[in-house]
Amino acid sequence: MSTAKLILDGKEHEFPVIVGTEQETAIDITTLRQRTGAITLDPGYANTGSCVSSITFIDGETGILRYRGIPIEDLCASAKFPEVCYLLIYGHLPNSEEGAEWRRQLTLNSFLHQSMINFFDHFPVTAHPMAILSAMVATLSAFYPDVMDDKKIDLSIVRLLAKAKTFAAYSFKKSIGEPAVYPRTDHSYAANFLRMMFATPAEFYEVSPVLENALNMLLIVHADHEQNCSTSTVRMVGSSLSNLYSSISAAISALWGPLHGGANEAVINMLQAIHRDGGNYRKYVDMAKKKDSGFRLMGFGHRVYKNYDPRATILKREVDLVLGALGVTDPLVDIAKNLEDIALKDDFFVERKLYPNVDFYSGILYRAMGIPMEMFTAMFALGRLPGWIAHWKEMREDPATRIHRPRQVYVGPNKTAFTPLEKRERSAYQPKFTKE
Ligand code: SDX
Repeated sequence: MSTAKLILDGKEHEFPVIVGTEQETAIDITTLRQRTGAITLDPGYANTGSCVSSITFIDGETGILRYRGIPIEDLCASAKFPEVCYLLIYGHLPNSEEGAEWRRQLTLNSFLHQSMINFFDHFPVTAHPMAILSAMVATLSAFYPDVMDDKKIDLSIVRLLAKAKTFAAYSFKKSIGEPAVYPRTDHSYAANFLRMMFATPAEFYEVSPVLENALNMLLIVHADHEQNCSTSTVRMVGSSLSNLYSSISAAISALWGPLHGGANEAVINMLQAIHRDGGNYRKYVDMAKKKDSGFRLMGFGHRVYKNYDPRATILKREVDLVLGALGVTDPLVDIAKNLEDIALKDDFFVERKLYPNVDFYSGILYRAMGIPMEMFTAMFALGRLPGWIAHWKEMREDPATRIHRPRQVYVGPNKTAFTPLEKRERSAYQPKFTKE
């Protein structure tokens, strides 16, 4: 085994180097603090591996993404989302018998406890779907306490995958004042979701195969992405032995941020702003290059991909297919493509290896399906659910797992005397409690 040497205070320390199955190299510093008294510092963990994992492989330099070794392109061309969920969570694609039972369980468990449906009556209609999704997933542990029983983990997993789709569709129906639509066993996961979102008692609703296939693709490309912010959150929360539903609820909150899963909504807001501004996309590219502008080209850049995100390639192709099949045009598509063209030739983006990521085109597809913008991040969450579950399960089954508890470098005041009330000065910062 090769090693890495560190010299600290004149003393040499040697640490083992481990190499993954795709030649990723890591210095194992498990004994660093115990042997040297020092820790490492790596804000944002850009250079730090939190675990070993067999679920997803990304090669950011060459733009490779594989789930359990299978390239994302092959899964998008040949698999259905439930199969990909099974692959990520259980490590292999289901055979016909396993797949049939898995799909049956996913539909049967789609229904909500009647008391849970009442919850939707008490959210404000303006509630963001991610707030509802996070709350309802956490509430599952109140209705299904057997989530604490590891012997029933498969039932807890299929319940979560099945009911999350229903939570998302119900939150949309509630927001438009329409009655909930129940899933059907003769529909695929994607078809059921589209039906639950758009069918009404007033008329027969037929699922468009074009939209069903596009949604299947969108769910698959979002299904996992190794140790991203929200998946690391699942591992962090789950490492305390917190139950599956609570761990996933925390991940939903992490995904909501505009730098992460919230970017798909931010991309559409950006494209619409450019459209309102006469389509002047050059102005926005120039703004994104100015540090002090506070503006970023949303949907561009990635911590890992320093090449084109393979998911963006897949979705960009799907945009042309879906809009063509639906016979619709979307002015935002041309703006997006022009932004991409100009950015990919601009030194600022080229030097920083900033390429379109998964969020750049996904929102345009969701729009084409009639999914409202505030639902976009919830759609990302539905896709990412199997990945979060797979990582939670892998972490809990790994005997090497310890509770996540990073260290810090303290830079605060040294030992300080207590100041009695009568001697305290008014501080420079005053907290604001008034409603704006
Ligand atoms: C997702 O981790 C995952 O795998 C995430 C994800 C998944 O599937 O789970 O892939 C999903 O979250 C995709 C990313 C969605 N977010 C966005 O599209 C928001 C816009 N992108 C960025 O804010 C940014 O690129 C991040 C957050 C994605 C990555 O941030 P990093 O790795 O911390 O990079 P950085 O902020 O340090 O940027 C490096 C340089 C900086 O310039 P310099 O200081 O070197 O001069 O690139 C610049 C940044 O200012 N930069 C951008 C930019 N992104 C980075 N400049 C303009 N526009 C951008 N979008």
